[in-house]
Amino acid sequence: MKNKTQHSISTKAIHGTKFGPRRGPVTTPIYQTSNFRFEDSGDAIRYANGDESVYIYTRYKNPTIEETESKLAAIANTERAILFASGMAAITTTIHTFVTAGGEMLALKSLYGGTYRYFRDNLSEMGIGVKYFSNNLSDLANQITSKTKLVYFESPTNPTLSMVDIESLVKVVRAREKKLKSKIIIVIDNTFATFLNQNPLSLGVDLVMESATKFLGGHSDLLAGALFGKSSLISKVKLKSKYFGGTADPFMAFLLGRSLATFELRVSRCNSNALIIATELSKHKMINKVVYPFLPSHPDYKIAKKQMSGGGGVVTIEVKGGVKNAIKFVDSLNVAINAMSLGGVETLVSIPVYSTHVNLSQKELDEHEVTPGMVRISIGVENIDDLLKDFTDSLNKLK
Ligand SMILES: Cc1ncc(COP(=O)(O)O)c(C=O)c1O
Repeated sequence: MKNKTQHSISTKAIHGTKFGPRRGPVTTPIYQTSNFRFEDSGDAIRYANGDESVYIYTRYKNPTIEETESKLAAIANTERAILFASGMAAITTTIHTFVTAGGEMLALKSLYGGTYRYFRDNLSEMGIGVKYFSNNLSDLANQITSKTKLVYFESPTNPTLSMVDIESLVKVVRAREKKLKSKIIIVIDNTFATFLNQNPLSLGVDLVMESATKFLGGHSDLLAGALFGKSSLISKVKLKSKYFGGTADPFMAFLLGRSLATFELRVSRCNSNALIIATELSKHKMINKVVYPFLPSHPDYKIAKKQMSGGGGVVTIEVKGGVKNAIKFVDSLNVAINAMSLGGVETLVSIPVYSTHVNLSQKELDEHEVTPGMVRISIGVENIDDLLKDFTDSLNKLK
């Protein structure tokens, strides 16, 4: 039998790391309980003395949540994964674990709007400074000072799908770290790529965050966040999460665990559907540009091919005629659904200036490279011919 860590992602997503005969249910029961009864007060005393194996309270730990977390860690080939109530809970708890008042962090200029607005509107009032760097990394090294505690980025970015060369970023940060003799935590939001297409931990990143609401959950029926990495770092964030309280609930963990069984099937299909859609839409006369990491026309195509094994399920297009035509295009679709999220089995479309990137000034939109005619398409697992016909019919209506 293969060593458990040698199994492929699809096998680990179904079985976790618990191979071998075990009597009991095939699926994981939902421990839908807020707290756990003790056998006797010996359990409480053991807990009070620091024995972490005792189940106390679901905000601390719960078997259903732990089972899904162990499958997630297996998929990522890492020591530990923990779940949160949402991707934003994972992001905020991670930041506040490592950056405190008086400290600074660096963030990529182009980010998911919710993350950016949290950095812009909330961190300064907590006494945390944020500076921004470009995805070509030219302004990264010189902005890192002894106050820098964390570097945060996405690759590919939401919704513009620009890429950061992860190995190069790690090299730059580690060199500065050595010079300044201080530890800097590198965090990536890997929501768009997922571990099927890209493993940033193997490229030297410290912590990977994913909105599990998206491709990990995959059915548009749950909210969750996941954080992956070495136990020594994850345990610090776990401790913070107990007090911040944005922890997972057992039913969500059950749904997510169920979704992981088809993770590889779903995301592979999203990858292949997305590449076909990107290639075909590039030929349409009403489209200004199609952005997809695995299209040779993508400015960061070489980086994408170097660090990703699949291009992911998101294609971003810019239709001719600006936001008026973007609205007409989206409203004429019959198969794809006009909705805010992404990563579901169903194809979802949204207009970034009205969704992910609302409440940004024109200057900020320019910095994020978000344009009015842009439509983000999260490709689902539907039949490819049905999707192509839907998009083409809708584009043919534009003038
Ligand atoms: C790239 C990215 N990161 C983080 C989030 C936040 O995740 P959640 O909505 O699960 O809090 C989102 C949500 O759209 C996202 O697209």
